[in-house]
Amino acid sequence: MRLPSVNPTTTQAWKKLQEHFEQIKTLRIRQQFTDDPQRAEKFSIHFEDFYLDFSKNRITEESISLLIQLAEEVQLKEAIQQQFSGEKINVTEDRAVLHTALRDLSAMKPEIKGALKQMKAFSEKIIRGTHMGYSGKAITHIVNVGIGGSNLGPAMVMEAMSHYRNHLNVLFISNVDGDHLTQTLATLDPETTLFIVVSKSFSTQETLTNAKIIKKWFLKQGSERDIAKHFVAVSQNEAAAIKFGIHAENIFPVWDWVGGRFSLWSAVGLSVCCGLGYSNFESLLKGAHTMDSHFRSADFSENLPVILALLSVWYNNFFNAESEAVIPYSQYLTEFVPYLQQAAMESNGKQTDRNGKKVDYQTGTIVWGSTGTNAQHAFFQLLHQGTKFIPTDFILFAESLYNDPVNQQKLVANCFAQTEALMQGTQDKNIKGYKEFEGNKPSNTLLIKKLTPESLGGLVALYEHKIFVQGVVWNIFSFDQWGVELGKKIAKNTLKAIENKEINMVNSPSTKKLMSKWLDMR
Ligand code: F6P
Repeated sequence: MRLPSVNPTTTQAWKKLQEHFEQIKTLRIRQQFTDDPQRAEKFSIHFEDFYLDFSKNRITEESISLLIQLAEEVQLKEAIQQQFSGEKINVTEDRAVLHTALRDLSAMKPEIKGALKQMKAFSEKIIRGTHMGYSGKAITHIVNVGIGGSNLGPAMVMEAMSHYRNHLNVLFISNVDGDHLTQTLATLDPETTLFIVVSKSFSTQETLTNAKIIKKWFLKQGSERDIAKHFVAVSQNEAAAIKFGIHAENIFPVWDWVGGRFSLWSAVGLSVCCGLGYSNFESLLKGAHTMDSHFRSADFSENLPVILALLSVWYNNFFNAESEAVIPYSQYLTEFVPYLQQAAMESNGKQTDRNGKKVDYQTGTIVWGSTGTNAQHAFFQLLHQGTKFIPTDFILFAESLYNDPVNQQKLVANCFAQTEALMQGTQDKNIKGYKEFEGNKPSNTLLIKKLTPESLGGLVALYEHKIFVQGVVWNIFSFDQWGVELGKKIAKNTLKAIENKEINMVNSPSTKKLMSKWLDMR
């Protein structure tokens, strides 16, 4: 069944939101706090270990109720129901979208249970050292070889969960950049390294190129027979993995109803399972599932992903914001923004609606950011005094992992101060020009108790659902990624031209010129 297809601009709510925008666009957030002492309370949601303060936004109670009306008119409830019940809502690829089923431990399909069992058993053998390399030594290094969704999720989790890591070193090779590959291999010992080749399709150029080079490197010391001890694969394409040389019993499944950028919860998370231990991986799943249940059951007005998504639509489509920043106040979340960029921009960077028509309104926002306080000393100047309008999400943990009060207090103080400065601006009328801060810049603050596998699972699921809701409102298909295909096709042809040193095999005069320059410059 298809998702409901409603052009959002034809809804009653959209028209009312346009009128409402005209009425409130000059309101000052700080004045609204003065007028309503309950504002912080009214515009906040507390769910388990998550507290969202969205009071520092350019909204009134009416804005929220109209945005919720918009969600109702585009039939968000039905869409959520369709996603979770496994209907083929990824229409252009004729697939269901069921990454949420991977984390529902209470009602798990047998094939998912089976895969988890396989992951548990395998990771335990690696951790205990009973799965040994060809020379009888325990595995010390795990290398995840994959790109896009087959890299960003596990890499983000391993970085975020540094505090929970075991003795294994988990590394990531994603880019088809020979320098990085060579340098990484130089640090590795083939006797004690396990390579996990992660590719849902097992046809991705970057991954296969790197995997082949790694195999060649390995075979300088190990033999073909030893491959079984050092190479495993995560793929839907078992035949291709076997052809590459991976033994059938070393192939972990991933299914067509798991999109690449949402695949972290499947065996794509095998490196996480090894590096953190199975129980931490399971906690990650549980945390995500708790957020799934909240998303499915909470009223829209109390629903974290729904509110975040609607606020984003509000700024994107009515304030014409081009981007939104995400600033986690935890160094461990360094990889969270790149992860989110794929999740959000590969999902919602679309301009054809669910009826096949070109949209005449803005869709996917540009997501960018970095960790606080580093970001404050890098690009916050532009947030505060630049000409761009950039709504910002601040993510903060209430407790530090090492119970360190001094730094944590400073981290918290900085985070709160930035949200306040963005909102207040300089209030002294005598401050003008270079030193003036306009203020009235919106932000959300997401305060989470502590960075744990559960809370990380919840945080990732929260943003996944936000992305889904935005796609429903914008009436686009969020789960395909046709936009990456053309570049891949041209790259293939360009590579042929490069290999043959035949400039005339490429079409564009600009590329021809670049290629001849490149040939000269080598
Ligand atoms: O960039 C396109 C893409 O298809 C992503 O959606 C996906 O995560 C990535 O390539 C890797 O694909 P695969 O797991 O099939 O190698």
